[in-house]
Amino acid sequence: MKVCVIGTGYVGLVTGVCLAEIGHDVICVDKDESKVSSLMEGKIPIFEEGLEELVKSNVKKKSLVFDAETSSGVAKSDIVFICVGTPPLPSGKPDLTAIDDVARMIGKSLNGYKIILNKSTVPIGTAKRITKIIRENQEGDQGFDIVSNPEFLKEGEAVKDAFFPERIVIGSGSKKAINMMKELYGPIIRQDFDYASGNSHRKKQVPILITDSTSSELIKYASNAFLATKISFVNEVANICERVGANILDVTYGMGLDERIGSRFMKAGIGWGGSCFPKDVRALSYTAEEYGSPASILNAVIQVNNQQRFKIIQKAVDMLGIIEDKVIGVLGIAFKPNTDDTREAPSVTVINKFLELGAEVRVYDPIVRDYPDSMDRGALFVTDAYKAVEGADLMVLVTEWEEFLTLDFNRIKGIMSEKNIIDGRNFLDKKMLRELGYKYMGIGN
Ligand code: UDX
Repeated sequence: MKVCVIGTGYVGLVTGVCLAEIGHDVICVDKDESKVSSLMEGKIPIFEEGLEELVKSNVKKKSLVFDAETSSGVAKSDIVFICVGTPPLPSGKPDLTAIDDVARMIGKSLNGYKIILNKSTVPIGTAKRITKIIRENQEGDQGFDIVSNPEFLKEGEAVKDAFFPERIVIGSGSKKAINMMKELYGPIIRQDFDYASGNSHRKKQVPILITDSTSSELIKYASNAFLATKISFVNEVANICERVGANILDVTYGMGLDERIGSRFMKAGIGWGGSCFPKDVRALSYTAEEYGSPASILNAVIQVNNQQRFKIIQKAVDMLGIIEDKVIGVLGIAFKPNTDDTREAPSVTVINKFLELGAEVRVYDPIVRDYPDSMDRGALFVTDAYKAVEGADLMVLVTEWEEFLTLDFNRIKGIMSEKNIIDGRNFLDKKMLRELGYKYMGIGN
């Protein structure tokens, strides 16, 4: 099938390459011309395992092309994916400017029946909003159908999640559109495309859920909000553990053995961040409020998460007393491992607060090498973990990068000024560190 993907961010690029790989002809368009020209040269602006090779091989096969002209991309395609951003406004309401612009452009470019698919996470009712804008802008009476098809990609595992999803959700009232969607995703549903053969992530068959567009939009928000709730809940229990002298690792293990609860997404730490959870939980809460059904649980989930980052600061004060002039080495900046994304990363709050309290802060991250926008420029970036903690009074682990497990803590013992560790992710070997003479504090542990 001929597919146009509008927007070459995380979602658009991964979706485009996945559709090309399973046999479709894909045009990925982006209004940012410089981004399009670097993509044409095989330069990938984001770090995602496997993505670069897949882009290069599909560009070579000509099943994937990049273009800066949205209208020609739309005109050449049967199916158009909208994958543009919906950043939050200060109120928490998602900003739909990019979606509206794209809808207008699609309306003007319609030259026959097409399916317009919304893949971005959009507020409830956006499918209807897009329909209206397209109708107002189309010149003829070409038919079209709007489909809500939310993405469930995790950063760092986006390629895997695109090829081997846990479900495909299609929100549409049109039989024709639903049948075309089943055909488009056929190889994914059946898991019979080349890339799947021999892959350990391959599923037997991927469930497909057909529903109305509003329910489909809500499935995405409610899923992310539920996952964020799970983490905030566990973090709250971790805080109770600290008060009563229990161990969160045993508590969550014990809880997770109940299949109704499950063991995944139960890791206590300094809270969730990233480009999705904060935005989506706030947006769902905003919608709930707007529709007269305030979401008390969601509001508490956000509040617990905002406070959780400050656990690090409290613990540092417990360990060091006055923070002024103390040297603190921070390990990890990305909001989670295996990504360079720093949006709403807990590291930024923690580092800014340490600097505000007068500490000298050194930071190291295996991939992030530059200041996130909201980070105070007072922190010093260093090129390895040892440099971050040399002469430090405290090591703080913020992101659980695998390489931190293999650090030589014997060597670190010799170079730190004080042997203090705060492990914001309960990631390091507490027993080993205590045996080496470190003062170790985890979260609820
Ligand atoms: C999330 C959803 O998982 C994905 O389905 C959706 O499409 C986009 O949002 P992502 O933002 O990439 O994906 O991150 P994810 O791996 O889900 O982690 C989110 C946050 O939760 C991270 O900050 C992570 O550190 C934190 N987390 C996760 C915990 O604190 N504890 C856990 O047990 C799991």
